[in-house]
Amino acid sequence: MAEIIDTGSEPERAIERACAVLAEGEPVAIPTETVYGLAADATNPEAIGRIYEMKGRPRFNPLISHVSDMAMAEAHVTFDPLSRQLAEAFWPGPLTLILPQRPESTVHALASAGLDTLGIRMPDGFSRRVIGRFGRPLAAPSANTSGKISPTSAAHVEADLGAKLKLILDAGAAEIGLESTIVKVEGDAVRLLRPGGLDAAAIEELLNRPVIRLEAAGATIEAPGMLASHYAPGAAVRLDAVDVAAGEALIRFGGRPIAGEELATIVLDLSPDGNLREAAANLFDYMKRADASGARTIAFGPMPSDGLGEAILDRLQRAAAPRE
Ligand code: TXA
Ligand code: MG
Repeated sequence: MAEIIDTGSEPERAIERACAVLAEGEPVAIPTETVYGLAADATNPEAIGRIYEMKGRPRFNPLISHVSDMAMAEAHVTFDPLSRQLAEAFWPGPLTLILPQRPESTVHALASAGLDTLGIRMPDGFSRRVIGRFGRPLAAPSANTSGKISPTSAAHVEADLGAKLKLILDAGAAEIGLESTIVKVEGDAVRLLRPGGLDAAAIEELLNRPVIRLEAAGATIEAPGMLASHYAPGAAVRLDAVDVAAGEALIRFGGRPIAGEELATIVLDLSPDGNLREAAANLFDYMKRADASGARTIAFGPMPSDGLGEAILDRLQRAAAPRE
């Protein structure tokens, strides 16, 4: 069973244990502001191999390399001017940049799935302190079995991977609750590979140009996180529900009641006040609770599609996609 250390009451022990386990080539579950990550030394192929094993994840999925500061980032990737502007404005934070890997970078090809680019991010919160002390980038996908919902608490990680993991750092609920926004700059064009915790509108405002959505770019699957049936709960998912049937769970938004909700196995409101940040932070936890209620189907009430609503709806559409 995994050891769990509370980072609030024992920060120093948490960092020391994490660095010791990472140095052994073992993954550690670490709290980031987006979701909990399953982190391992990005320069150690055996350690990265254990991430893929623990997640049961197909090998071709590249992982994000997490850094603690710009110096560490610049040792591994080269920044074009627009990407640098983004990093300066939004790091540490929920933004991943796809950048050319430097020839002298020691991040192993198993972390980048052999691509000549790296997905790189400076996370906020306790994980950044761990990386700073460890001194090398940490490769970290979300700390869940492949295809399942991303964990936003240490309890989620323990329930899913606790038997396989040595150590989980517990910093409470993830502040943002959605994975990072993934962006790739190509010349003058800024492409959104995955909507996420950073609102694309904030990027457009900073760079004063439109962010090109994947659909607009021809729907090539460049970030395999974009595969259709991803983020799937056990129950089926139905969107834009105007009513609820007996045996369904209901997740609604904005305090708006849905017809028949008294028949639902559970009724959860992502944000009764209609706040999309709050909704994002609750999303994965509520999907797990709806799943645990024994419902066949999770019905989602209507949600706005602006701001963070874009990323939330993206996750929901994937969860609702037909399963293989
Ligand atoms: O918030 C997050 O991003 C969380 C936390 C732990 O940082 N991590 C996360 O990782 O969501 P993961 O592995 O679940 O998703 C990483 C995504 C995948 O869709 C992957 O394909 C894409 O990043 N990616 C990584 N490197 C890439 C690259 N070089 N080119 C294109 N896509 C890349
Ligand atoms: Mg994931």
